Amino acid sequence: MRALIVYESMYGNTHLIADAIAAGLDTTADVTVVPVHEAAGALGDGADLLVVGAPTHVHGLPRPSTRKAAVEAAEKPDSRLTPEPGAETDGVREWLDTLDGLEVHAAAFDTRLDAPTPITGSAAKKIAKQLRHHGCTLIDEPHSFLVTKSTELEPDQHDKAREWGASLGRAISR
Ligand SMILES: Cc1cc2nc3c(=O)[nH]c(=O)nc-3n(C[C@H](O)[C@H](O)[C@H](O)COP(=O)(O)O)c2cc1C
Repeated sequence: MRALIVYESMYGNTHLIADAIAAGLDTTADVTVVPVHEAAGALGDGADLLVVGAPTHVHGLPRPSTRKAAVEAAEKPDSRLTPEPGAETDGVREWLDTLDGLEVHAAAFDTRLDAPTPITGSAAKKIAKQLRHHGCTLIDEPHSFLVTKSTELEPDQHDKAREWGASLGRAISR
């Protein structure tokens, strides 16, 4: 079984969650993790499970203006944040728009602030809707992993991501 994890990340947290999900899936699948700008080629190699994640920006998926704001925030002299390579290029929103007729099992995740979803919004819900629209069968509800106000993953989130990866592996094996 082949699993492909595609992520967008400004500051590295969604990337870390993608890697932790991969670690959880590792026992049941041959897993590849790619940043979204490498997704088209990786998907061409075939996958039985597609897992897609992005940071939540302005209640939904990053767009050019929010990516620009994220990079500008990281460039401020007092910032401890470092933009990921390609942070300001096209991301999951634009890549999802290119997909069509994708008959594959899939799951969606995001990172977001630690507050109720009506306040934060969720990129994962938008990703799930788009994946379904493009023909994917979702094997679980969209999942969120939480960051602090200083943009660090909450301490238990690596473990939660690994557990979620393992549960996706079990679901796809059934
Ligand atoms: C421009 C911008 C807008 C954001 N909007 C939201 C939001 O609406 N809801 C939320 O929960 N978090 C919001 N955040 C926080 C991000 O979700 C957080 O920075 C992200 O999860 C970190 O993941 P990354 O390190 O992979 O970029 C925003 C961050 C930025 C830079």
